[in-house]
Amino acid sequence: MFVSDCLGINAKGHLTIDEKDTLELAGEYGTPLYVMSETQIRENCRKFRRSFEEHYGGNGMALYASKAFCCKAVCRIAQEEGMGLDVVSAGELYTAESIGFPAERIYFHGNNKTPEELVEALRYGVGTIVVDNITELEVLDQIAASMGKTAGIMFRVKPGVDAHTHDFIRTGQIDSKFGVALETGEAMEAVCRAAELSHVRLTGLHCHIGSQIFDIDPFEEAARVMLRFLAEVRERTGLTLSKLNLGGGFGIKYVPENDPAGLETYMGRVSAVVHGECGRLGLPIPFILIEPGRSVVGDAGITLYRVGAVKTIPGVRTYLSVDGGMTDNPRYALYQARYEALVAARAGEAKTMEVTLAGRCCESGDLIGENMLLQPAAPGDVVAVLSTGAYNYSMASNYNRVPRPPVVLVKGAESRVAVRRETLEDMISHDEL
Ligand code: LLP
Repeated sequence: MFVSDCLGINAKGHLTIDEKDTLELAGEYGTPLYVMSETQIRENCRKFRRSFEEHYGGNGMALYASKAFCCKAVCRIAQEEGMGLDVVSAGELYTAESIGFPAERIYFHGNNKTPEELVEALRYGVGTIVVDNITELEVLDQIAASMGKTAGIMFRVKPGVDAHTHDFIRTGQIDSKFGVALETGEAMEAVCRAAELSHVRLTGLHCHIGSQIFDIDPFEEAARVMLRFLAEVRERTGLTLSKLNLGGGFGIKYVPENDPAGLETYMGRVSAVVHGECGRLGLPIPFILIEPGRSVVGDAGITLYRVGAVKTIPGVRTYLSVDGGMTDNPRYALYQARYEALVAARAGEAKTMEVTLAGRCCESGDLIGENMLLQPAAPGDVVAVLSTGAYNYSMASNYNRVPRPPVVLVKGAESRVAVRRETLEDMISHDEL
């Protein structure tokens, strides 16, 4: 009925997440409020696990791309569910370290890691640094040498595959700031250089073609291109690289019309390409990694707001203003992202009111969405925006010195704070006079 399995309607007609009434959650924790179903996050992780068993005989692993939503509790869940972790900054690494996430299952990404970040990664013993470019390779080799260590590395390769998604979240094409290009020979040059260096150990290759991708074809194409490159590397250098990381980017349902291909179709089709190409090229099947972020946490989250002003401009539109906005969800402003919203108290009733859901910031573009259909809403109602578990909290800001909402994790009939609400005191806590 809803875009996510963790949502339902109880006997009172209220929206529920797991077994919790969202109106009670809004009452207990206040609004705006991010709520996430721990059950759904764990189930999403388990789907990846089961799928690796089925399609690769367990010879692979899903890394949770923590940029989608990074906090201690979620890193802990990913750890407990046997996922690896993709981090892209000292901050994400620090979060992982703070809960003792196993270093060998961490992959450190980023197109411009600082020397300090590389030192941190080596100090913690991060299993794999996904090197973006040759400059980073040289710097890393020197840092590792000075620390008496050898860094396990992969290269991020641009496979030259164009995924059909929003321009801002497309990354596989040659004109991208991420990775080394195949077409120009840069990728082969990087591999050859790594083979000469003594403080890096190249274990595999990585690619990531973009995010919120519904179609499987570009993933298949990327896998094909990468395997052919693995074969070329073996021919040219004699190195048989044992790991292939195919990145993340699996689309999820934000609105009922969205029709992502689904994990099973993705894993079935991509593993067929991997097995087929390896057979054809005489390559051993590499250890396959993928890096889902959105598809682990996206549909597990909702945001609850309280409606304030309702402003109808006759013949134009109705603005329904809520107590959050672009500070907790900048995705409409950035990508014209679409969401489903409903009035929590009347979640099953007909949606007869067309609104522009506006935030509270001093910015005309501060909208959660336009032309959204809702159950009739009035000031004081709680509105739920669905599928906000990925890239909402993680991209939130303090614009207008609006404190970030808390994140509450729900599991069955239990709830707990995973990230506390920021206070006004927090807003001035870094200021000096
Ligand atoms: N691996 C790499 C190297 C990535 O750059 C990303 C996402 C992922 C994995 C995870 O992708 P996912 O499975 O979550 O699609 N802020 C944007 C999304 C940016 C994605 C950046 N990289 C949004 O709100 O849609």
